[in-house]
Amino acid sequence: MDRKKITIPDLIAKKKNGQKVTMLTAYDYPTARAMDRAGVDSVLVGDSLGNVVLGYESTVPVTMDEMLHHVKAVRRGLTYPLLIGDMPFMSYQVSLEQAVMNAGRFLKEGGCDCVKLEGGTEMAPTVKAIVDAGIPVCAHIGLTPQSVAQLGGYKVQGKDLAGAQKLIDDAGALAEAGASLIVFECIPSPLAAAITANTPMVTIGIGAGPDCDGQVLVVHDLIGLAERTPPKMAKQYVNLFPQLEQAISSYVEEVGSEAFPAEEHGFAMDQAVVDQLKL
Ligand code: KIV
Repeated sequence: MDRKKITIPDLIAKKKNGQKVTMLTAYDYPTARAMDRAGVDSVLVGDSLGNVVLGYESTVPVTMDEMLHHVKAVRRGLTYPLLIGDMPFMSYQVSLEQAVMNAGRFLKEGGCDCVKLEGGTEMAPTVKAIVDAGIPVCAHIGLTPQSVAQLGGYKVQGKDLAGAQKLIDDAGALAEAGASLIVFECIPSPLAAAITANTPMVTIGIGAGPDCDGQVLVVHDLIGLAERTPPKMAKQYVNLFPQLEQAISSYVEEVGSEAFPAEEHGFAMDQAVVDQLKL
């Protein structure tokens, strides 16, 4: 198959042609390799890194250094998909200069093609400053986990008239500021469909129904690599955690019972050397 690296104009063309865009999160090299081979359009190194890989309670403690460490591993595994780096909490809220500087680090040090940041109308000047510096932006509205304290929990957003109108206004402001893509997290499907139909941004849904331009999932939810049951909006395609636990239990048991390692797992030595060393 003749494949070429996917760019933002390619995703915009998909929107225009009514073809769905696929996005998944990844945090390491082997997962990135699998996504590259499987033909995913874009890979997001999400700050969900904090919850699903680093064992934090939320995304709030994640740092720039942690993000860049994982972005670089994912970069090494990708040839074709668009790579998006998620700006962690407090890496873009303090000043426009700080936001542009940190967004630049995702491109210069991490090899990203685009950065993502959370927030609506209040983030439009930040989006504009980053875009003006030549860095493509993916916005993120609805349930924005970095503001979970302000939102009062992980809840669906935009269910009432005022909430829905706010998200419509946010999308307008972010498009105006130059965002190319936008993630809708946990918003009602009809609202996501209506914004999608009226925005030039490529809309990517997670818990936002089937009518977004594309879909994103946290890969650990898709492959079941977590102790917890996946959230309602996710579909689990394979449940790896019990298999992982089972494989590790078998190893523990076999080392204990000396069933592992067997002869075929070891390395032979020349009989002459054995004899000389009197082994
Ligand atoms: O951090 C993340 O993984 C995300 C996705 C849920 C879109 O923001």
